Parts: sequence; C-alpha cells; structure tokens
Amino acid sequence: MRTVITYGTFDILHVGHINLLKRARALGDRLVVGLSSDEFNQGKHKSSLLNFENRRVVLESIRYVDEVFAENTWEQKAEDIRKYQAGIFVMGDDWAGKFDFLMDLCKVVYLPRTSEISTTEIKQSLGNV
Ligand code: CTP
Repeated sequence: MRTVITYGTFDILHVGHINLLKRARALGDRLVVGLSSDEFNQGKHKSSLLNFENRRVVLESIRYVDEVFAENTWEQKAEDIRKYQAGIFVMGDDWAGKFDFLMDLCKVVYLPRTSEISTTEIKQSLGNV
C-alpha cells in the first residue's frame, strides 16, 4: 500500500484543487490530506471563507481523498509522514523546492498547478458580482 500525503486550505473548492487531488491519488493507493486549521491560516494571515469543519466535510466527500487530518503547524510534516507511513509527499508547483528537506523521509513531488484559477481570484471576482 503506497500512501500519498498533501496539504492545503482547499477553501471554495475549485477545479484546480480537484485536479491536484486526482493526480496525487493516482501516484499511490491512498491519499491523506492535511487541511489547514482556521488558527493555522490566521497565523499565515490567510483567512478562509469557509471554516475548517465545512472544508473538512467537503474534502472528505471527494472520491480521491481517503482521510483528512488537521494541519496546525509548519513543523508537523515529518511526524505526519511517519504516522501515515507516506511514501510520497505532493504539493502544487507554487511550492516548488520549499519542501525538499522532506526528501530524506519520502519522495517529494511538485505537480503543475492548473492555470488561471485560484481561491484568491474567486474571492476577488466575487467582489465584482
Ligand atoms: N492548486 C493547483 N492548481 C490551482 C490552485 C491550487 O494545483 N489552480 C493546488 C495548490 O498548489 C496546492 C493545493 O491545490 O497544492 C491546495 O491549494 P490552496 O492553497 O488551498 O488553493 P489556492 O486556490 O491556490 O488558494 P489561494 O489562492 O488562497 O492560494
């Protein structure tokens, strides 16, 4: 069983998120997702429109996602990789290079982002509705 692990906020779910999750899941047999908690987002000065519980329920209902857990700190990744026995760590390539230090623990893969869509852009366009 090959476990893939990824992280994100996944606020206002869109096709870029689904493409990422689908490709991540296809790299293994199980996909576990670290979902940024509301407190962690606040620390990053990045508030989500939908709260953690709401985002968790949506994420858990996606067919490519096997398990969701909370991401509360920047430092927890190594422990999560061990806990879930993840063989592959995946992020979109907006994070390219940032998590190379995890290569000692598992394979690190940066997948190309889906172009022209992001939660930030959706929020901005809502301001124009
Ligand atoms: N992602 C992607 N393609 C997009 C948007 C996001 O592949 N168009 C990926 C990110 O690279 C990340 C994951 O989806 O690995 C979760 O990203 P997240 O930050 O929650 O989504 P964004 O839409 O990028 O949100 P924001 O605009 O707030 O940064």
